[in-house]
Parts: sequence; C-alpha cells; structure tokens
Amino acid sequence: MKTTDLRIDGDRLLARLGELAAIGATGDGGCCRLALTEEDRAGRDLVGRWMREAGLEVKVDPIGNFFGYRAGTDDTAAVMTGSHIDTVATGGRYDGCLGVLAGIETIRTLAEAGVRTRRPLVVGVFTNEEGARFAPDMLGSLAYVGDLPLEEAYGRISIDGKRLGDELARIGYRGEAPLPLYLPHAHVELHIEQGPVLDAEGGIIGSVESVQGISWQEVNIFGESNHAGTTPMRLRHDAGYCAAAIGIFLRTLARELGGNQVCTMGAVTLHPNLINVIPGRASVTIDLRNTDEAALQQAEQRFAEFLEQLARDEGVAIETRRLARFEPVVFDANVAAIIKRVATRLGHACRPMTSGAGHDAQMLARICPTAMIFVPSVKGISHNPAEHTFPAHLAAGADVLLHTLLELAA
Ligand code: GLV
Ligand code: MN
Ligand code: MN
Repeated sequence: MKTTDLRIDGDRLLARLGELAAIGATGDGGCCRLALTEEDRAGRDLVGRWMREAGLEVKVDPIGNFFGYRAGTDDTAAVMTGSHIDTVATGGRYDGCLGVLAGIETIRTLAEAGVRTRRPLVVGVFTNEEGARFAPDMLGSLAYVGDLPLEEAYGRISIDGKRLGDELARIGYRGEAPLPLYLPHAHVELHIEQGPVLDAEGGIIGSVESVQGISWQEVNIFGESNHAGTTPMRLRHDAGYCAAAIGIFLRTLARELGGNQVCTMGAVTLHPNLINVIPGRASVTIDLRNTDEAALQQAEQRFAEFLEQLARDEGVAIETRRLARFEPVVFDANVAAIIKRVATRLGHACRPMTSGAGHDAQMLARICPTAMIFVPSVKGISHNPAEHTFPAHLAAGADVLLHTLLELAA
C-alpha cells in the first residue's frame, strides 16, 4: 500500500475515546478528570499503557507531562503531536483526549503498515491544560517551553487547597526527564473546535491559524456582613451585590467593545452564603478573551476602572489576583498550509480559522513551528457533558493528523 493511502482505524479510535471517558465518567456522557486527581492518574496510566503497546518509549518530565517517542530513520529533531487528558469538572469526552488518542492511533497505523518516518515522532500529554483545578491553564506546556519556573509551578494551589508539586508526587507523575525533553522540528495538535463555526458551515476540517488572547483574574470583594432584615439599603456594604454588578458589567463591556470580545464570570463564591445574611465577602473569577491584544488590554483597563468605581460606591475593598495572561498567538503559516493541503487531498472541506479556546499548541508555538487541526463540535457545545463530534469527523481529523505528521517528518 502506498503511504498516501494509509488511513487510521476510526472504530479503534472511537473505542478508546470511550474507554478513557469511563475514567471519571459523570454518568451523563461527560467526564470529571481534574488535573492531578485519582481520575487523572488512572487516565494517565491507561494512556501510558496504550503508548507502550504502540511501541512508543514513554518518559515523564518533572511537571508531569509525558511523552511517547518513536525513533525515525534519522537521529534528528522529532515532529510532535499531542494534547491533554485532564478535563473541567463538567467536561466532555473529546476535549484534549482526541488529540492524544489520535496521536497514538497514527503511531499504531504506521507501525502496522511498517512505515518508518525519517524524523522521530512524539505524542505528548500535557499537565493541567484546563486550568480548572490549578491556574494558569496550559500550565504543563507553559513550563515545557520554559516560561513557568518549576518551583513556581509546584507552589500553585488548587481550588481544593492542594500544592501542585505535592499532587504530582502523590499520583506518581513527578518525573525525571529533562525539561524540555524534546525541541521539536514542528508541533501539530488535533482538537475539537469547541465552537459552532465548522458545524454551522458544514466544514469538516479547520486549519487553525491563530488563538485568541486570554486574561484570567480572581476578584475578591470585602464588604460587611450584616442582618438582611435590619440593615437599611443605604448602609450596606454588600459583597454579593458587587459580585452581581460585576457579572452585569461584563455583559455590557462585551457589548460595548464589540468585535471578538468575550467576557465570562465563571465562578462565584459568597460568604457566608445564607439567606438572611448580607454577604460580607465575595470571590469571582473573570475570563476575558479577544483575538486582538490592544482590544483585550482595553477590556482589562475598563474592567479595572469599573472595579474602582464599584468599591467607592458600595464602600467595599476590592482586590484582584492575576490567574493567567496569554497574548493572542499566530501559528506557523507553513504548518497551517500543510494541514490545508492534506485535508484537501483527503477530500475534506477545510477552512482557515482562529481558536476561541486555549490550547497547549499555543505554548509549543513559542519554541517550534506549530499549528492545529480542528474538527466540528455538534452545535458548538463544549466544557459540557453533551460535547459531541461525529465519529466520521473524529476519523477525518485523525487522518489529516496522520498525513500532516508524515509530511512534516519526511
Ligand atoms: C481551555 O480549555 C480554555 O480555553 O479555557
Ligand atoms: Mn482542550
Ligand atoms: Mn477544555
């Protein structure tokens, strides 16, 4: 068989996505495999076993990223693929897992066909991509590219109060491989789109050319707890009211800035959180994103001004804590062009696009030519147990990945 005729086994890929999804299954089709939990450990163990069975040599680095390596005919820089297997607490079964399992499936396909590439191939699994348990998101890949010192990463505290370094050691994934283990020739990540564009337009493959910027912060509001019945409205310092006002303001901000600005208040904690007590403290998380760095800075500036005014008006203290900040990323035009060419050759409608979600590939882009392949998400639903991608689209994405890797590794 000619190498160009090779295709991955879509049923096998689907079966494995199902097996991995059984770990941390939430019973509604979704998954909860928060980073560095018991479920994450079980998922890692399974994926590591699959890597070894595919003939890959597996190594774990000190931040818990792990890699399966397949030698090429030349001892030269490898072509890397991969993604993450941690999920948000209400995650679906495809986010991240597709990129990892499709990477292993491409290796199996090559092994069964007896194809050896000139360059080595590496499948990577990066720690805490989601950022749902530890901030920032893409933490493992950020450390991999040298932009988050290990000790700083180890000191990050989870939403359940645990140190990242301790949790890594506890689940047995504080490895000893050098960081970074490989300096890739190129990196390609396959992922579900997690947005509505391909599904709405009937496309099958997205050739991802850029990722929007991400700004995360935690806002802590310190007011005064008091009796809900006896305290006149004019005398309140209500942290709960401030949290609500922030939520409303974010919608106004996005509407006024227009363009690609998106704003989300994803988590709210009130204290003491009781029906007849004015909240004395509130903590909210803010996620601002934009494809344009200047516009994102403007959003941050306007939000900061709003908080100052709100603190004055309500007589509360407001403190902010930065959780993540990544500028928009433009991917490598050559790698994106290869993806487009491969998709077209395989007969799949392909469109250039930008990513609304954050991805490990945006970190790898700092050290090597990188781009991404997207496949459709039904109705654009993601970070939701209902996340779905049709089996034929999963297979199409994996085939595009296989042939993109073959071109890059030739
Ligand atoms: C990661 O999934 C993110 O974009 O928040
Ligand atoms: Mn993801
Ligand atoms: Mn995600």
